[in-house]
This record gives sequence, C-alpha cells and structure tokens, in this order.
Amino acid sequence: MPANSVDKAARHSSCFYRRMMLALLVCALCLLTGASGEALPSPGFDLLLLVRSYPPGFCSHQHCHTPASSSFTIHGLWPEYKTGGWPQFCGAHTTHQAAGPPTPAQNCLWPSLIGPSPGFWEHEWAKHGTCAAPLLGNRTAFVATVLELHEKYNLDVALGNAGVLPSSSGDYAAEDLQEAVRAAYGAAPLLSCTAGTLVEVWMCLDLELRVMDCPPAVRPGPKCGADVRLPRGAEVPPRCRPFSPPWGAALPGARKGGDGARDGGGGGGDGDDGGEQGDRPSWRVAAVLLLVLALAYVAMYGVQRLMAERVEAEEPLLLVGRGWQQGGRADP
Ligand SMILES: *[C@@H]1O[C@H](CO)[C@@H](O)[C@H](O)[C@H]1NC(C)=O
Repeated sequence: MPANSVDKAARHSSCFYRRMMLALLVCALCLLTGASGEALPSPGFDLLLLVRSYPPGFCSHQHCHTPASSSFTIHGLWPEYKTGGWPQFCGAHTTHQAAGPPTPAQNCLWPSLIGPSPGFWEHEWAKHGTCAAPLLGNRTAFVATVLELHEKYNLDVALGNAGVLPSSSGDYAAEDLQEAVRAAYGAAPLLSCTAGTLVEVWMCLDLELRVMDCPPAVRPGPKCGADVRLPRGAEVPPRCRPFSPPWGAALPGARKGGDGARDGGGGGGDGDDGGEQGDRPSWRVAAVLLLVLALAYVAMYGVQRLMAERVEAEEPLLLVGRGWQQGGRADP
C-alpha cells in the first residue's frame, strides 16, 4: 500500500516533468518562430532609392531652363522592391494632398531642371511619395525626409573629400566615385551616365533610412562605363549657397567624431544591416536562451527522477525498504 503510493507519486511526477518539458519546448519554439517571422511591419516595399541628379551631366542631353550648377540636386526618393521592380501611384486619395509652400532649401536643392518645379514635386509625390507614405507619412513629412537625406548623404561633400572635383578635362574612374561615397557613408551608390557623362547617382537605403549596398536586381538608368566625366557647370547662385556646402566641406557629423564614425560604420559592415532591426527580437533571443536553460535544468531533473524510478523498479528490495520506512513513518 505505501509502496504503491510512492510508485504512483513517482509516475505522477515524471508525467508532470514530461508535460512541463513539452510546454517549455512549445514556448521556446513559439518565441523562436516569432523572432524570425515577425520583423518590422512591411510598408509594402523593401528599400528606398535616393536619386540625385548631376545638373551639368543631366543638362548635357536635355534642354535645361536654368544654368546647371556643379552641385548635385534631388531627383527623388523612390520605394523599390529588392527584385528590381517598384510600386507607383499608391494613394488615389492622397495623390493631390496639398503641399505647404516650398522652403528656400527645397527650391534650391530639389529644382526641376527642365520645367516648373511644383509640377515636378507633384509628380514625385504622386508616383513615389504616396507609396512611401506607410513608412514616411504625409506629403509634408515626405518632403522633409527627402531634404534631410539629401543633406545627410551629401554627394558634393563626399566626392570633394576624396578629391573628385568637377572637371572639364579628363575622366574619373567610376569606381573612384563609388569608393568616395562608400568611404563617406558606408555603401557604394549606382551611377547612371549618358555618353560617358554622369547624370544620376542612386543610393539604396534600408527601411530605417540607412545606406546599404543595392541589391543586384536594382539597376539605375543607363549605366556608366569604367570612366565617367564630371563636367564643371555653373556656380551655385548666391541665394542657394547656404544650402550647398562647398565640395569637400567637412562631412556632416564628422566634427562630432562619434556620430560621423557611426554613420560610416553602420553601413560599412556589409553584413551588418540587421543591426538596429535586431533590437526588437533581441529580448526574444534572451527569453529563448533562458527557456532553453530552464528546459535543460528540468530535463536533467526529470532524467534523475526517471533513473531513480527505474532503480526502484529493478531493486524491489530497496523499494520495499523505502516503502517500509515511509510506511513506518506514515502508519506507526
Ligand atoms: C502631416 O503629418 C504630421 C505628423 O507626421 C502632422 O503633424 C501634420 O499635421 C500632417 N500634415 C497634414 C497636412 O496632414
């Protein structure tokens, strides 16, 4: 009778441990699949292209209505799929969302080179901005983000720092241009040319707006050859000079040391672009580790119990002995 109850208790407890192990295992699996499956909510695209024009190159094959200055200007910020396609004209009801009056910075840094700028901005918002809205917000926020990114990843400064200056004599190696931008911001851009002259520079940004190497499927317009001309254009007009630092000015953030280094370093580690995104699941990883530890502990404890059970079954004498002892205590 006492032996039976000990047996029952042992079987009960081993059953309990098996259930507990199973539950913990299920928990660990849930957390693991959650950690890998639930990244940031997708805005409906994979990356953004920050596209800048080099006016002297652009205007070498287009009729421009303003003198083309030797200073990169904004073309747009375009949502893109990593497979090379892109969404466009995404928000019927937001397409004609009103824009506030343009700031002097927007007039200087994001001009249409071939027509009235308001129509150009309207087009960029309707075609691309409406698709970026899940990530960047309304039209006002979109314009602000584009201007910020243009300044943050200033191309005049990056190229100038590397000694790549507008020149009406001679070419640069396309690789040198790309390397200069990589040195400044951590990832090489794509280059687009017409007849060997630089027209556009495309930078890929991840969904946290950090530069990244462009996926192989993302292609700019006509590619450049090995050599690129960077013809000298007009001077930046005085009203725009405050917004265009001279070529080779200090990199934004460079004086702050740490910040500049972080900008370069963040994009620089090519395999590193999960860095900040990893913040969210990192508590999960910790939880999984804890669970695995708990699981291991419970498993060891359970195995110990099971072994003890087997020993009891194989050695009836010991069992009787223990039964007697326990019986003795319980039933004097
Ligand atoms: C755009 O969004 C910002 C916040 O992101 C908000 O403050 C602002 O009022 C919005 N503007 C319009 C015109 O809806």
